[in-house]
Amino acid sequence: MSFGFARLAAAPLLRLALGLAASMAVASASFAQGTPAKAKPNVVILATGGTIAGAGATAANSATYQAAKVPVEKLIAGVPELADVANVRGEQVFQIASESFTNEKLVQLGKRVSQLSKEPGVDGIVITHGTDTLEETAFFLNLVIRSDKPVVLVGSMRPGTAMSADGMLNLYNAVVVAGSADAKGKGVLVAMNDTIDSGRDVAKRVNVKTNAFSSQWGPLGMVVEGRTYWFRTLAKRHTTASEFDIDQIDKLPEVQIVYGAGNMAPSLYEAAAKAGAKAIIHAGTGNGSVANYAVDTLKALRAQGVHIIRSSRVGEGFVIRNSEQPDDKYDWVVAHDLNPQKAKILAALALTRTNDTKELQRIFWTY
Ligand code: DGL
Repeated sequence: MSFGFARLAAAPLLRLALGLAASMAVASASFAQGTPAKAKPNVVILATGGTIAGAGATAANSATYQAAKVPVEKLIAGVPELADVANVRGEQVFQIASESFTNEKLVQLGKRVSQLSKEPGVDGIVITHGTDTLEETAFFLNLVIRSDKPVVLVGSMRPGTAMSADGMLNLYNAVVVAGSADAKGKGVLVAMNDTIDSGRDVAKRVNVKTNAFSSQWGPLGMVVEGRTYWFRTLAKRHTTASEFDIDQIDKLPEVQIVYGAGNMAPSLYEAAAKAGAKAIIHAGTGNGSVANYAVDTLKALRAQGVHIIRSSRVGEGFVIRNSEQPDDKYDWVVAHDLNPQKAKILAALALTRTNDTKELQRIFWTY
């Protein structure tokens, strides 16, 4: 079984339509003749695995498959149209399902992206990635890559062997965005399902559909038939305006998340601290609420030097400081609109620069 992207043979009607389209294209090309061809941008694809590199047993397996099987050369060969929009080359950085990312892998990937962004011959970078933790990697790179060159993360919800696989067009779109001059300076981007989202705002909100990713503050733009359309820019600091620099970071402090619900076990927070967490993200109910029988445990952990950061398990909105809990009095931090997994990324980076609560809170307001 070929692990390549499955392409259905064009049915007769489809072939006729494509034939007509081709003759029209020739006509428009002759009309456009004389327009100097623009040099194609140089785009590097860093492959890390995930479903976009996945393979299932049959074309009907859109959800049952093995992730991280197809090498980057095959991903590129499966979309010959990439050559129409960019000079593309690939590097296989990892070949893993993204739930298996670690801090060490984040730092390694970040350093390679930083290195490439400094090369004059590189105009843009695409990172193929599993969708499970794609939002965490995108936010991390948005904070630590000191370059305005487009860095675009892309994945897929179906393996390339499935009917209506989404990876081919997602990869094509990501390369188009990464090669677009108008994508420069917009921060790290995520191109999925024809949409361009900010790596800061986007989250995986549906775990079984191709429109899995969205941002509560809306996308930045769209990419359609090889063109980018922009409608907003990110309000928060990023990339060249960030105070974080991956070239100055070799290790990230441990930060862990404890998920809020009814009937909590306060010992989970103590276990996180025992496991080395320098900060605990409380993924609270509602507005980052803390069960009354857990407050003393968190206060005790703060007194031992562990930072407490209130986020929310609710997918939208933002945690308001001193609302559900007296954060000033307890010396706690609120994660603003960042979901728990993104708050974890920012907290780890913030702790590479400061241990001061007021500074941590400034960083959460800023990024
Ligand atoms: N194991 C998941 C991952 O690698 C598959 C999901 C996907 O890539 O869409 O993130």
